[in-house]
Amino acid sequence: MLETIERYSQEVHSAQFTTKEEVEAFRIQYLGNKGILKDLYAAFKNVGIEEKKNVGLALNEFKKQIEEKISSLNFQDNRSSKAILDDFTKPSSSESSGSLHPISIITYEIIDIFERIGFSVSEGPEVEDDWHNFSALNFPEDHPARDMQDTFFLSLGQSNYSLRTHTSSVQVRVMEEHSPPIRTISPGRVYRNEAISARAHCFFHQLEGLYIDKDVTFADLKQTLDYFAKSLFGKEVKLRLRPSYFPFTEPSAEVDVSCTLCAQKGCSVCKYTGWLEIMGCGMVDPNVLSSCGIDPNTYTGFAFGMGIERITQLKYRVNDLRLYSENDVRFLQQFKS
Ligand code: PHE
Repeated sequence: MLETIERYSQEVHSAQFTTKEEVEAFRIQYLGNKGILKDLYAAFKNVGIEEKKNVGLALNEFKKQIEEKISSLNFQDNRSSKAILDDFTKPSSSESSGSLHPISIITYEIIDIFERIGFSVSEGPEVEDDWHNFSALNFPEDHPARDMQDTFFLSLGQSNYSLRTHTSSVQVRVMEEHSPPIRTISPGRVYRNEAISARAHCFFHQLEGLYIDKDVTFADLKQTLDYFAKSLFGKEVKLRLRPSYFPFTEPSAEVDVSCTLCAQKGCSVCKYTGWLEIMGCGMVDPNVLSSCGIDPNTYTGFAFGMGIERITQLKYRVNDLRLYSENDVRFLQQFKS
């Protein structure tokens, strides 16, 4: 029996292959269900007791030899891959890469603009308590100002929770945790109970900014917004501030930029006014500073907040808000860079 194993072993040693199919046939011949090794193990049962040890060792060695031969051959059969390389007329396989969502592209662009002048990015929870979304921001209890932002209220245990209606809640958290100087922007998703249409949605994205230090004035706010608008829309863009009202800022203003689409000649996007509203802003109300543990006699600050969908619409001329959340690849693929 030892001689038989030795003879097969020689055969295995000198076997040569050029294709994967030949290797597979070899594997079946030796290791298959009706293969040579199976026969040898069957014959092994009848080997006399004194020979059993040596034959057993030889058989195990032989099995190892076959397995090693096969695994070493796996990578040597490069005939088929070579054939592919040689065929230059063969069409290449197409690869499709993903792309950033337009909201993400614009968010990153705005973050980049503010980071250049020292603003850091802060984030907070989307399920917010009444204090951070309203009370600390000077919304009086049962005051109609709370209706300004159609809120999704949640009933979770004893406390009042809601889906945050603006990212100003993040700024309250930053003010509570850090002492001035504070210079931060907070991008994120916000929710409002509105019927879904081309012009409104029940969730959208905001990016709000906050700057608190000694001697911060309205002039600093205007300078910062001017720098921002010019960086985003181009040097020729003009800025206009109109008086407005927010519970958390005093004075408050609405910010318009000159229409970038028609150069103020009048078009349907600016409704023939020449101006586009892009955000709200103002000086942080002293009540808000005290609520967050900051002394309003020492510090002042400004805040601003914009809808990212609105900015994205102006940059990419998308006129239906619903497109941003439908995830239609035909829409999204247009934003590949
Ligand atoms: N939080 C306001 C909103 O959601 C935007 C805003 C932020 C206005 C900061 C003024 C100052 O409408």
